[in-house]
Amino acid sequence: MTNPTDERGGLNKGLTNYGDIEFSLFLRKAFIKGAGYTDDALQRKVVGIVNTGSGFNPCHGNAPQLIEAVKRGVMLAGGIPIDFPTISIHESFAYPTSMYLRNLMAMDVEEMVLAQPMDAVVLIGGCDKTVPAELMGAISANVPAIQLVTGSMLTGSNKGERVGACTDCRRFWASFRGDQIDAQEIAAVNNQLVASVGTCSVMGTASTMACIAEALGMSLPGAASPPAVTADRIRIAERSGAQAMKMIEQRLTPDRILTGRSIENALRVLLAIGGSTNAIIHLTAIAGRLGIAIDLERLDAMSRDTPVLVDLKPSGRYYMEDFHHAGGLVTVLRELRPLLHLDALTVTGRTLGEEIDAAGQGFAQDVVRPMARPIYREGGIAVLRGNIAPGGAIIKQSAATAALMEHEGRAVVFENMQDLAQRIDDEALDVAADDILVLKGIGPVGAPGMPEAGYIPIPKKLGRLGVKDMVRISDGRISGTAGGTIVVHVTPETAKGGPLGLVRSGDRIRLSVASRTLSLLVSPQELAARAAAAPAGATDPATRGYRKLFLTAVTQADQGCDFDFLRGLPTGESVPEKRG
Ligand code: FES
Repeated sequence: MTNPTDERGGLNKGLTNYGDIEFSLFLRKAFIKGAGYTDDALQRKVVGIVNTGSGFNPCHGNAPQLIEAVKRGVMLAGGIPIDFPTISIHESFAYPTSMYLRNLMAMDVEEMVLAQPMDAVVLIGGCDKTVPAELMGAISANVPAIQLVTGSMLTGSNKGERVGACTDCRRFWASFRGDQIDAQEIAAVNNQLVASVGTCSVMGTASTMACIAEALGMSLPGAASPPAVTADRIRIAERSGAQAMKMIEQRLTPDRILTGRSIENALRVLLAIGGSTNAIIHLTAIAGRLGIAIDLERLDAMSRDTPVLVDLKPSGRYYMEDFHHAGGLVTVLRELRPLLHLDALTVTGRTLGEEIDAAGQGFAQDVVRPMARPIYREGGIAVLRGNIAPGGAIIKQSAATAALMEHEGRAVVFENMQDLAQRIDDEALDVAADDILVLKGIGPVGAPGMPEAGYIPIPKKLGRLGVKDMVRISDGRISGTAGGTIVVHVTPETAKGGPLGLVRSGDRIRLSVASRTLSLLVSPQELAARAAAAPAGATDPATRGYRKLFLTAVTQADQGCDFDFLRGLPTGESVPEKRG
């Protein structure tokens, strides 16, 4: 419900109505003057700044500097900036999993943007789930909003070798598990993996979402790539504050920027950067807030004609700071130009095509390849279907082992995380290098929160023999920083009665990435008999609180794991557009 004073903007917005709206304004100004504001300041347009700084979130460790710079930009443009907190989610400090909290943060952002008087908002986010949460909340609030990511961390060095979180975290830990490096070296590596504040230094979920925010038009051109501790990052922050003021004048709300065409641009970029599989879930949730569906079959078709161009780990060699030095995202956008919707609007009020043109010519570099010389001939992500994934499954083919992408093997099944922890390193475990590891019970409801546990560790006894990769299948997720032949997002999940729950150790499974199939080689009659004998996967009951809300309302991966009651009314639109 709005008040008659809302259209005046600034502090007049969203006044509590006691029956005398001018008294409400009088009261509000009296309180904020307690912080030393003048009447001159309080008559200006207000730009809110979402402050996600937290001692538990080193990925946002530069939030104070960013806020200071955003404030400078807002004030230079004649407005008044006011920062406010929301919850902050770091991947390693969010039990049971950060994904469990993404929707809570989205609700926090939406409600606080609407509850407090602001004419525009700068969304400071960075660590994996924070950017999608902020975009989801901003879409639902539909107040002019601009995304500002914290930027990537610097890389460190171990014995002269460059290292960075978290692709190298997994590589070194696998070497430690396989007795290839000792306790002293792994401790030394631990000091080097995260060399500064900022988000993971590879093309993991945070970097992917930073690129997606720019491709969507929701952040300034060039905003995705500057590392957290650089002057470039601080300048982007100042400019984001100033741009928020222009967006107020232009009434540039998220519903004008985010359309099916901008979502399609973001999907194209996701495939070309070899981005995180998590971004499919987040983009599905973002599109869902707009009432737009993502068609996985058409996404897969798009993947077949979108090569991976960015040579960053985990698909390639380099790190985010190299990507920035190579020109950042516009270097990719220039290559993708014929495949993009250039008329999509951005936060600048200009179109994506105009911004690509304004960036001028590129220069010689080796991090972003031309279309004619990609690092992988198809898009980074492939969509699989089959009798154990009727709602689809995902594999990051650009980071998989080529020899395993056409593979048939014997299933070695773990019923849940506890079962995995108890048996994976058991010397008596019946497992061989060409087996397929299956982990059940880690879907959106099952875990709950769909943890990034799809990166099932290689059993120690195989690791010691030098086995680096195996086909692994689960209804969970993997970190965007992880590599390997790993099938995730199997839908529906086992806790919702998905057929993955019917797989038994010893069954044969066939994976064919070329034909996009994932098949359990068990007869339909046998599967029907197993289904009749087995109840749907059990979930710990929740009687109260956020957990109850989560388990009641969370949707499956193919719906973006958003809460069903937060999704927009369906418009009937689905992306990518049908071609041919
Ligand atoms: Fe925050 Fe990787 S842990 S971006």
